[in-house]
Amino acid sequence: MKRKEAQNFQESIANSSLNEQFRILRTNITFTTSQGKKIFLVTSGMNSEGKSTILANLAISFSQQGKKVLIIDADMRHPTQHRLFNKMNHIGLSTILSGQHTFEEAIQSIEEPHNMHIITSGVIPPNPSDLLSTSVFKDFLQKCRDRYDYIFIDSTPLIQLSDAKIVMKEVDSSILVIRANRTTKTTLLKCKKILDGVNLSLSGYILNDVKEKKYNKKYYLN
Ligand SMILES: Nc1ncnc2c1ncn2[C@@H]1O[C@H](COP(=O)(O)OP(=O)(O)O)[C@@H](O)[C@H]1O
Ligand SMILES: [Mg+2]
Repeated sequence: MKRKEAQNFQESIANSSLNEQFRILRTNITFTTSQGKKIFLVTSGMNSEGKSTILANLAISFSQQGKKVLIIDADMRHPTQHRLFNKMNHIGLSTILSGQHTFEEAIQSIEEPHNMHIITSGVIPPNPSDLLSTSVFKDFLQKCRDRYDYIFIDSTPLIQLSDAKIVMKEVDSSILVIRANRTTKTTLLKCKKILDGVNLSLSGYILNDVKEKKYNKKYYLN
């Protein structure tokens, strides 16, 4: 993640309700992992609700605990993770799934924290949902499962596009991101219906971007 961006976001986590939410989510995820689940889809109904940002920070926090963590950017329409971590993106998931590169050729290390790896989206393909529907994607995920403690998958929004729904069939659990003052009740209900429809467990949710009220802080300080 770009240093300033990461620092800003981590400061905003430290000083907000996100800190407590992250703590609860990490506990839930750790519990889920003890049941053998390790592949998590971070999802939300629409674009710009904070999926990619939350995912990057969640992955960093597990990596800081010494876990082997992999980020996969399966949002092959609006990929973000390569920019957050300042990585090249001409080789990645799309080029693995289309048979142009191997897993080993596509994997990139994130120097700080040192246990983390990333597979970026790769060049934007014309047919993301077709690529995700192949058995190559299943085999690829199995390879990831054998090598990492935690795998976090970024994807397109749940509503309107089919990509995330295809990915959902291959993951162990999901994490739902809701953006305060942006995610509508209708969107949330649609997400719940989609998650229930595939019987995918929800490890937790994050209510992102809650504006802390100054008078609350003052109240507690006094
Ligand atoms: N809690 C937050 N505070 C401020 N900006 C945020 C927050 N969460 C996300 N953003 C910003 O909102 C934009 C969309 O976030 P992103 O993580 O890319 O969403 P998504 O992956 O759901 O499309 C980005 O510019 C990101 O930096
Ligand atoms: Mg995103």
